[in-house]
Amino acid sequence: MKIHFKPICTTMVILSMAGTHGRAQQRDVNYDESKVGTYTLPPLLTTEGGQSVTTSAQWEQQRRPELLELFSSQMYGRTPDDSGITVRYELLTENAAALGGKATSKQVKFIFSNGKKELEALLLMYLPNNGAEQVPVFVGYNFKGNHSTTTDTTILYSKNFALVKEAGHPDWERGCQSSRWSYDDIIDRGYGVATMCYHDIFPDKPGLKDHSIVSLFPGYSPDSEAPDEWQAIGAWAWGSSRIVDYLATEPRVDTAQVAIMGHSRQGKAALWAGAQDTRFKVVISNNSGEGGAALSRRDYGETLAIVSSIKPAWFCPAYDAYHGRADELPFDQHALIALMAPRAVYVASAEEDRWADPKGEYLGAYHAGPVYELYGLQGLPSATPPAIHQPIMHDVGYHIRAGKHDVTQYDWLAFLDFADKHFKQD
Ligand code: GCU
Repeated sequence: MKIHFKPICTTMVILSMAGTHGRAQQRDVNYDESKVGTYTLPPLLTTEGGQSVTTSAQWEQQRRPELLELFSSQMYGRTPDDSGITVRYELLTENAAALGGKATSKQVKFIFSNGKKELEALLLMYLPNNGAEQVPVFVGYNFKGNHSTTTDTTILYSKNFALVKEAGHPDWERGCQSSRWSYDDIIDRGYGVATMCYHDIFPDKPGLKDHSIVSLFPGYSPDSEAPDEWQAIGAWAWGSSRIVDYLATEPRVDTAQVAIMGHSRQGKAALWAGAQDTRFKVVISNNSGEGGAALSRRDYGETLAIVSSIKPAWFCPAYDAYHGRADELPFDQHALIALMAPRAVYVASAEEDRWADPKGEYLGAYHAGPVYELYGLQGLPSATPPAIHQPIMHDVGYHIRAGKHDVTQYDWLAFLDFADKHFKQD
């Protein structure tokens, strides 16, 4: 690896932080809307004791905790107590003339420790040089290393990224996903952005669990099959919150204006992160499909059995019990989206991304509406999805764009519009 800079300075901050299974299943995937079948969604606004939820206070005190517990015990796994884990930060580079001079970039190494073992993660952050005292920031994971998000040769890749890479030099990925990171637009609109490779938190490759942050927690065993054992999505969600912890140490970041954007499997993790950590004030789930925004009961595209058989596991072992029995889930994904209320949530689909079930993603967001209404807020207007390129930007937002499973400039411009609406309305 060639690096053309020297470390500028090193700061150390110690923080105490609060807070495979399955089998591949062969079956035909349905892409015929007329064969989706009928289904009944479990009631969002009825408590387990059968009481109707009619106020936001009742939602917050009774129903929301019930649903959080169900998603923890049945789907994403329980996020363990992390009071024994510390993190320190090392500033590796700082460049006040990044992106042609319009941004300041920082690369910060996070060193997580349980007192015996340490793991590293690498954050890349850009903040606009726009004179604003504080700026809103988007947080999001990348898939192929921080250096894949830009052609800038000073951007580093992490230890875990190099570990996961199978063949060839890790540097070959440089810039390969820059089209997914509209840094210029984000900065031009006055936002900062902070990204990390998702493998740094939980390597998405079998056999590497010992390199995930999960391995730092008490009682860790790589083969544990506890029904509510957290897996990759739980870990990724936890890691996003650790990025917010870091942002809170940056004076220029407005921590009251932090958005999270996740694509695909990270669109699932972004929803789970937003459900648990209310510091995410805008939650954006792009092309997240099954196990994300899409209703599990709709038999279209990927199924619960398929997504929960992916290795290493993304969901907790208890989720496997619902293979072929999605109609027995005590919730559906509309309930996950509703856990963002009263914060703003946005779901984005792509027309050709049939695997992710665009209509199911829309309906997941639509059926979260009644919880927003408890707060006097506005969900999506109708059970019929909008046409392509007709974004809806209420407190629940949605768009479907032309094209494939991806994150494009079109998506980012819509995410920025949505964030503007919720962050800059005063
Ligand atoms: C697979 C998986 C999806 C997931 C996607 C991704 O297609 O089946 O559930 O969203 O990978 O994360 O890229």
